[in-house]
Amino acid sequence: VDSLRFHAAQHHLLYGCAVTPQALKSDPRYAALVAGQSSILVAENAMKWAPMRPTPTTFYFDEADAIVAFAEKHRLKVRGHNLAWHRQLPRWFEVEANTGNAQQLLTNHIEVVAGRYAGRMHSWDVVNEAIKVEDKRPDGLRICPWLNLLGPEYIEIAFRAARNADPQALLAYNDYGIENERPEDYRKRAAVLLMLRRMKARNVPIDALGIQCHVWAGGEYGPGLKSFMAEVRGLGLQIFLTELDVNDRRIAPDPAVRDKAVADCYASFLDLALSEPAVTVLLSWGITDRYTWLNAEDAREDHLPERCLPFDRDYKPKGAFFAIRDSF
Ligand code: XIL
Repeated sequence: VDSLRFHAAQHHLLYGCAVTPQALKSDPRYAALVAGQSSILVAENAMKWAPMRPTPTTFYFDEADAIVAFAEKHRLKVRGHNLAWHRQLPRWFEVEANTGNAQQLLTNHIEVVAGRYAGRMHSWDVVNEAIKVEDKRPDGLRICPWLNLLGPEYIEIAFRAARNADPQALLAYNDYGIENERPEDYRKRAAVLLMLRRMKARNVPIDALGIQCHVWAGGEYGPGLKSFMAEVRGLGLQIFLTELDVNDRRIAPDPAVRDKAVADCYASFLDLALSEPAVTVLLSWGITDRYTWLNAEDAREDHLPERCLPFDRDYKPKGAFFAIRDSF
């Protein structure tokens, strides 16, 4: 088949996907599909705190290393995800982390992890999902372990540590809930912009905004996202579309109807998002319906398997693939 990498490159974009090291190892057809379609990879889980930090003083690198090795073997770029997040923290974190050691824990983690892959990464999601308007703080920040331990400065601390550890990687802030035309998306975009402006004013080393893009079939994508992206460009930042997939939970069970709704959503969302010149990278959160987090986390009420990604469970391209290809 045609490759998304090729079509993206024609328009100076990188296409890639999130990968799981287990499948890269055990499923050669999956590995071939990933290598044939992508120019950039990201670990779906392997570079998060929980898998990387079995104990407060130790690191586990095998799976992350396997992804980087696979990428380098196939001459693909790699993004890191992520260095500070409120989810997927190791169990010991709640017991061991306190206001006295949190800064050291965070900066040491970043030095070791980002340092290990320094010079080989396209970018890092330094901070993930730090904004939650519903938590009602004037600065829009989410009330989370890192905020509780270090205050709002944890963001700045993380970015400075990341720049030190890997001066070549582009540093990104990554978030969701900023894609739609719902009132809550408008509020969240305003909070994200406020945070990015403050970071720029304080010379925090940030190069990009990551927009996750877990979008919905039937969702509405329009002027709110468009003008937001233009403002982000005005701050001198690149935009990465980091975790694209299409949830079709609201669509009737007929597979042909679902595939059409999913493909239409890819087409209309990307038509808008790729019209923004600051967008340089697009990654989908997986590549085949065989391996997608939505089967586990946001499953349909009828429990039918997901059809959210460009390739089906048998690695055949479907409507979503052609929609993505034609959007470049
Ligand atoms: C998800 C993974 O896909 C799942 O396998 C895991 O159980 C939970 O995390 N936003 C993010 C990603 O930034 O890290 C999440 O990945 C999906 C939502």
